[in-house]
Amino acid sequence: MKRPLRGPFAALLFLLLCGALSFPSALRRALAPPPVLAPPPRLDPARLNATLLRLAAVDGSEPSLRRDVDDLLEGRLPASSRARARAWRRDRLHPLHLRHHHQFPVHRRDHHDHHHPDPLLHPLPRDDLLLDPALRRGLRAWHRLRRYDPSVLPSLPATLSLPARIPSCAVVGNSGILLQHPRGPLIDSHHAVFRLNNARVAGYAAHAGSKTNLSFINSNILHLCARRPGCFCHPYGDAVPILLYLCQASHFLDVAACNASSHTAHAAPISVTDPRLDVLCARIVKYYSLRRFVADTGRAAEEWNAAHDAALFHYSSGMQAIMVAVGVCDRVSVFGFGKAADAKHHYHSNQKNELDLHDYEAEYAFYRDLAERPQVVPFLKDTGFTVPPVVFYH
Ligand SMILES: *[C@@H]1O[C@H](CO)[C@@H](O)[C@H](O)[C@H]1NC(C)=O
Ligand SMILES: *[C@@H]1O[C@H](CO)[C@@H](O)[C@H](O)[C@H]1NC(C)=O
Ligand SMILES: *[C@@H]1O[C@H](CO)[C@@H](O)[C@H](O)[C@H]1NC(C)=O
Repeated sequence: MKRPLRGPFAALLFLLLCGALSFPSALRRALAPPPVLAPPPRLDPARLNATLLRLAAVDGSEPSLRRDVDDLLEGRLPASSRARARAWRRDRLHPLHLRHHHQFPVHRRDHHDHHHPDPLLHPLPRDDLLLDPALRRGLRAWHRLRRYDPSVLPSLPATLSLPARIPSCAVVGNSGILLQHPRGPLIDSHHAVFRLNNARVAGYAAHAGSKTNLSFINSNILHLCARRPGCFCHPYGDAVPILLYLCQASHFLDVAACNASSHTAHAAPISVTDPRLDVLCARIVKYYSLRRFVADTGRAAEEWNAAHDAALFHYSSGMQAIMVAVGVCDRVSVFGFGKAADAKHHYHSNQKNELDLHDYEAEYAFYRDLAERPQVVPFLKDTGFTVPPVVFYH
């Protein structure tokens, strides 16, 4: 009876022994991160960099922009701005209602169309536009110029009709960190001061300074002030020129409207930024955003698109102001950029959150390179241009 059991017992003992011996490696396997989370086969840095550069060069917003431009040229308000158009009409302050204004270049054909596919617009008149030929030419030229051409940076002083490069510039951002140091006099001591998105200066002179030589706004802000009578878009005074970053093709209508009303008031013009500068900024920020995405998530750079809305993703007005300063000034000081746990988002308002449209962390990484080793910034180096000293005050 006993003998037949010895074989199975020995086998069991053997299995237990093997189990005990392999236990540590099993434990190691169990504790190791599951293989699915491992990064894709490690690309060597040079190949990864090449991939990032290739993907950064793809302009994800171009297809929708082209559609909107075509719509406008064919006399339709782009679908992307119809909801806004309804708000314009409701307020009756939309530039299209100013069509009796002399010189105003936009006209609207009013007629009812009961077959309009958008039920929300019914029974409002169809959005038919008749763009003035000069406005059509301007829109077409703007879109045609929207391509990668790094020579835009060294040619900025001429583009902006500056008599010469400016010896020193202060770019004042709107972060709440501006309130942590009374640097208003330092800001005003620069030859030119650039401000962003119509931030208030009254009451903040000690921290934000008081002079303004160039005002940067994006077209969403212009769109809001274009709705006010007289197009109140010059909070720093009529003499301060405005440089505008166009977020949507349809905002060209606001530019035309404000431009027309500004000229009657002898105000400084509103210039749309050279779209080649937009393309250059967009590539740089996308490169840094892709790099951050790969480093933070371990995912393939190709998956960046799925995590970002490529049609809406864009760089901030602050980045544009810094790039223009780099292009036209011999020395650049930057104030009020960055965030801190104990600082408000904006020094002059109680807005809480940053917009998802921007990747501020990517922009900060770009600024660090710009200040410390500008020669490594991709695309910028294609300009063959020597970046002036840039100092960030935190
Ligand atoms: C900037 O504006 C101030 C006045 O506010 C003016 O004195 C100065 O000359 C301007 N700078 C440039 C470079 O035009
Ligand atoms: C603004 O008006 C000026 C003068 O009429 C014109 O040269 C310029 O092209 C206009 N800009 C835009 C964006 O319409
Ligand atoms: C990536 O390529 C750019 C452009 O050639 C270069 O300036 C940069 O140093 C490279 N970065 C890395 C980490 O290799």
